[in-house]
Amino acid sequence: MIQSSLQNVDSRRLHVGIIMDGNGRWAQARGWPRVEGHRAGAGAVRRVVEAAPGMGIGVLTLYAFSSDNWRRPSREVETLMRLFRVYLRTETERCIANGVRIDMIGRRDRLSLRLCSAIEAAEAATIGGKTLHMRIAVDYSSREAILRAAARLNGAGEVTREAFSRELGDPNGRAVDVPDVDLLIRTGGEQRLSDFLLWESAYAELIFTKRMWPDFDASDLAGAVDEFYRRERRFGGLTESAKAL
Ligand code: FPP
Repeated sequence: MIQSSLQNVDSRRLHVGIIMDGNGRWAQARGWPRVEGHRAGAGAVRRVVEAAPGMGIGVLTLYAFSSDNWRRPSREVETLMRLFRVYLRTETERCIANGVRIDMIGRRDRLSLRLCSAIEAAEAATIGGKTLHMRIAVDYSSREAILRAAARLNGAGEVTREAFSRELGDPNGRAVDVPDVDLLIRTGGEQRLSDFLLWESAYAELIFTKRMWPDFDASDLAGAVDEFYRRERRFGGLTESAKAL
């Protein structure tokens, strides 16, 4: 079904992207297997999804599994895939109740049929959600997404930035107008983008925090949003005071 998310989500609210990093180190610091960090990370996802709408966030894109993460040991990959499936199964009701629309971005052809059905069921059940548009990036590579969008538009004549953005926001054949990323947060202390939302983050404010993802909570999110509003976004232009000089 073709449906514009602009009907669902007030586009004036913020689009926040999060690179959820540090699960493995969080677990290892406690002498636990890395997968325990991913389990605890799912708890942080719940906390953030619950808190986000109250902070003026309308779209939340979470980097859960990059296309490069397939290189990890198969036990870790299997645990992550199971966690995604369980999350979708157990959280869909709560998402419906809270007006959260779930979308998966990324490739689906390498995911198990069970996970694909869980994704489709969660997306269909929550499509009416108007409070928060949660996008979970699984088997996601921004460069691949850009290449695929370019291939789909090949021969389409003149391609505007807006048309290209729309195409990128529609990786699975559903028209979704998602605004550019306003604020991009990476936990875990590293300072890189790791192939996440490269086109969409052209003018995003970047916040890197040393907090490990399983410890990230509503107050950390509120702190990042406050910092975002303290920054001056000029989009390549000048402030009013600088123009007067
Ligand atoms: C990066 O930490 C995190 C991941 C590759 C997985 C993210 C997954 C979750 C938060 C689990 C739940 C998600 C959902 C959507 C239910 P890392 O393992 O690379 O940490 P490290 O840098 O400390 O090794």
